[in-house]
Amino acid sequence: MILVIGGAGYIGSHIVKELLEQGRDVIVLDNLTTGKRDAVDPRAELIEADLSDRKVLKELFQSKPIEAVMHFAANSLVGESVNKPYKYYENNVGKTIILLEEMKEANINNFVFSSTAAVYGIPETDLISEDLATKPINPYGRSKLMVEHILEDAFQAHGLNYVTLRYFNAAGAYHTGEIGESHDPETHLIPIILGHLLGERESISVFGTDYPTQDGTCIRDYIHVSDLASAHILAVDALIDKKVDRRVYNLGNGAGYSVKEVIEACQEVTGIQANVVESPRRAGDPAVLVASSKKIRDELNWAAKYDLNAIISSAWNWHKNRTY
Ligand code: UFG
Repeated sequence: MILVIGGAGYIGSHIVKELLEQGRDVIVLDNLTTGKRDAVDPRAELIEADLSDRKVLKELFQSKPIEAVMHFAANSLVGESVNKPYKYYENNVGKTIILLEEMKEANINNFVFSSTAAVYGIPETDLISEDLATKPINPYGRSKLMVEHILEDAFQAHGLNYVTLRYFNAAGAYHTGEIGESHDPETHLIPIILGHLLGERESISVFGTDYPTQDGTCIRDYIHVSDLASAHILAVDALIDKKVDRRVYNLGNGAGYSVKEVIEACQEVTGIQANVVESPRRAGDPAVLVASSKKIRDELNWAAKYDLNAIISSAWNWHKNRTY
């Protein structure tokens, strides 16, 4: 049985569905502040509670045969983290420590942690591998990196086995269109473009056209949320089967697309023309972020299946009929 903390969120809910499809028992714990009840597959038990609720955690760990915990619950808006650092350190770091303490008490030693490309800050090289220096430039990235350090210390001190996954730009939706990306406020490029193409906003802004890239706009590595899901399942199984004990892996496609290229691809998939406004740069955006995912390919035999067009098609399928 696997406990998914934050399983009502965008990425967590997709992993829950994939685990269930594979016949696994899943419990979701989510406080539903940003997560959506409707995103949780009804085959999974949903416990509505905060991950720092020791009483709930103790009861859960005592009553259920939990083999591993996957932890997705976090605040993840870079801009907000700059203005509200305490919120990010408390929710992303402080509460994770409570969870880890309760796992230790219950002798649960397998942990999969959601981290981010934001731990690299503004990297000096374009293709990012895991051994690159981590120099986050905002509290969000720092909060995730702090937990990464805590996990390493917990491995040494308590024998916690963990896999940290550093996501690049998660996008796309479940193939049936039942669940997908839904943030409030929405800040991510692909849902913003598709929302605009559906008439939900008048135009889209391209933040910065003077970057040192071919067309002047930022380049990112978009990875399908279902490819993230397959990586999580390989990671949790590798922990349960004791094939790995502590690992940090990047998760991306290894291919970069500029903001303008993403807009063009969205127009192509949907057949609708976008109204694009060239705008100033957004603070803190690195010009290029592309992952090398060689390590997880080599060690866990993971491979991304979906390209940018497949990502956008699945997202479009969701956005056209979204229910939350
Ligand atoms: N962008 C626009 N217009 C928009 C929205 C975004 O031009 O309306 C641009 C951004 O400036 C950026 C690119 O599109 O160049 C992608 O932006 P997103 O906000 O979709 O994603 P980010 O790359 O900023 O953020 C992602 C994750 C974060 C993580 C970060 C690491 O969503 O959680 O990568 O750098 F912190």
